[in-house]
Amino acid sequence: MSIGLAIVGAGYWGPNLVRTALATPAFRLDWLCDLQVERARAILGPYTTVRLTDSYEEILSDPDTAAVAIATPAATHFDLVRSALEAGKHVLVEKPLTASVAEGEKLASLARHSGLVLMCDHTYCYTPAVQRIRELIRGGEIGDIQFIDSVRINLGLVQPDVDVLWDLGPHDLSILDFVLPEDVTPVAVAAHVGDPIGAGRACLAYLSLWLSNGALAHVHVNWLSPTKIRTTVFGGSRRTIVWDDTNPAGRLAVHDRGVDTLGVGSLPQDQRRQALISYRIGDTLIPALPEREALLSVMAEFSAAISENRLPLTDAQAGLRVLKLLEAASRSVDGGGARISLNGVAE
Ligand SMILES: NC(=O)c1ccc[n+]([C@@H]2O[C@H](COP(=O)([O-])OP(=O)(O)OC[C@H]3O[C@@H](n4cnc5c(N)ncnc54)[C@H](O)[C@@H]3O)[C@@H](O)[C@H]2O)c1
Repeated sequence: MSIGLAIVGAGYWGPNLVRTALATPAFRLDWLCDLQVERARAILGPYTTVRLTDSYEEILSDPDTAAVAIATPAATHFDLVRSALEAGKHVLVEKPLTASVAEGEKLASLARHSGLVLMCDHTYCYTPAVQRIRELIRGGEIGDIQFIDSVRINLGLVQPDVDVLWDLGPHDLSILDFVLPEDVTPVAVAAHVGDPIGAGRACLAYLSLWLSNGALAHVHVNWLSPTKIRTTVFGGSRRTIVWDDTNPAGRLAVHDRGVDTLGVGSLPQDQRRQALISYRIGDTLIPALPEREALLSVMAEFSAAISENRLPLTDAQAGLRVLKLLEAASRSVDGGGARISLNGVAE
């Protein structure tokens, strides 16, 4: 039996949910809802059995619709998700989960107590590249994480409601959350932002994250770059992964190169540096990756979590962990770029 699904939001991202939901046999797309119903009509065209509406209440009162996927602006997520859960619907919501940690916590608790699925669309976690990176890191292939450097810059739409940290940051932060070993977590963040075009909100941001194992991660997100760069380097003590998402022929490269540190034993301080460092020059491996659209995997995971009555891979807690980093980053910006520990204290 297919699961009745409604999609809410037919703007920039909603059509991708529509296309992939229609290609997912486990779902039966019942409804497409947008306050501007003409947008929804334009996506579906004249020959469709999917019903259109501008009334969210109409969807929530349809007993045949068991699940809702929400692609509306972040500020609307809390109210829409809460009323869907209260109406007994499973929910897939776009990133970021909500506009604040407090709201996210309320939704996570509501989902837990209702036994309904609440999944956050952290799309990149479902790409074959990120899934392989997770295997390589968590399987110990690259050794201990020493540094992470992520650049996600291009000419992006300046969003009316969120700054670049809250728009693009969730991608990098959800990827870090997904691939890092469970015992390596961010302990503090600092963010520095710029708005050189006077948009009234940050259009570029540099985010530093200190990790519990002593490693440092850095994320650069930017709407103003004429060139598109989407590269992340995961530096490890044994190997280093370079992920270039703009290069389909070789998205991932695993370099067996790096710096080996030798035991310093009881060497005096002045002889330590030379004894410490030795450079290792080895092979580079290009892992073969399946080509599969991430959103199809998102839909598959959402439907499987509903049918198997289990938590999805990117559940409300994953959404919350990302929100905590975003909120701390915003606090850092407000404090002139101060380092903020993840229990909220400026250091
Ligand atoms: N996963 C990804 O890679 C990805 C990419 C882009 C955007 N997004 C996310 O998707 C969400 C939507 O972004 P967008 O760029 O498509 O926004 P958008 O402004 O282009 O579209 C939002 C649509 O939602 C409709 N809407 C707003 N409030 C509504 C309500 N209460 N009921 C029904 N319809 C309503 C608007 O009329 C509009 O058509 C955001 O959370 C964004 O972060 C995710």
